[in-house]
Amino acid sequence: MESALDYYSARALLDWQIELGATEAILDAPVNRYETPAEKPKIKAIARQADAPVPPAPEVVPVDEARASLQGVADLEGVRAALAAFEHCELKRGARKFVFADGNPAARVMIIGEAPSREDDREGKPFVGRAGQLLDRMFAAIDMGRDVALSKDAIYVTNVLPWRPPQNRDPQPEEIAMLRPFLERHIEIVAPDVIVVMGNLSCEAVLGRRGISRMRGNWQEGFGKPVLPMLHPEALLKQPFAKRDAWADLLSLKAKLESLS
Ligand code: URA
Repeated sequence: MESALDYYSARALLDWQIELGATEAILDAPVNRYETPAEKPKIKAIARQADAPVPPAPEVVPVDEARASLQGVADLEGVRAALAAFEHCELKRGARKFVFADGNPAARVMIIGEAPSREDDREGKPFVGRAGQLLDRMFAAIDMGRDVALSKDAIYVTNVLPWRPPQNRDPQPEEIAMLRPFLERHIEIVAPDVIVVMGNLSCEAVLGRRGISRMRGNWQEGFGKPVLPMLHPEALLKQPFAKRDAWADLLSLKAKLESLS
């Protein structure tokens, strides 16, 4: 019903009634309080929700997360940033530094090692320890190096794992698998003419199998590129007699580069 009173008069009348002791507004139509529900329906609904089973949280699949984080990534800085921000690999928690790559990204040869050494982990750069120094000497022997500006004589160096495993433990197969999408995109962007995989871990990540002693020196194909498996410089430090095989592999690499140019 429309009231003839304006707002201020109606408000003054209401205040006066409250002063007189009125505690309830009488409506035009009567309300039977006995018929109102004992429980408010809203509260009931909440109680039912609390009893309902909690739906399980969606499962996180690290390798899918890795692929999703690389969506639209088309340059090296993007791969570096996506990998550095990846939170699903336990190895990240134990490492001191993130170790991405070194050398000339325009190089014809991309070398894929295993994981940072203690020194690499301290410096945030791959292959700077004893094994790395041997690697530099090996490539210098065929007139190649990571500080070389000319792409035909340059090398570019990275690892399967950007974080040093605690106590240098072997990485789990799942850890290699979840990091593989980053390696794949890294290779796509650098687009080398050939890849050198050093050690069993790199063989597994790039070629899908281990057996470096048998595979070394035999050209394979991985990620659509010619791949040369070689003994890891760390192994050569322990077995100097195997340097003869490494030399034969370096000559084979040189010959391959000539045949492709
Ligand atoms: N340092 C690296 O960066 N990778 C290796 O595989 C070994 C030492």
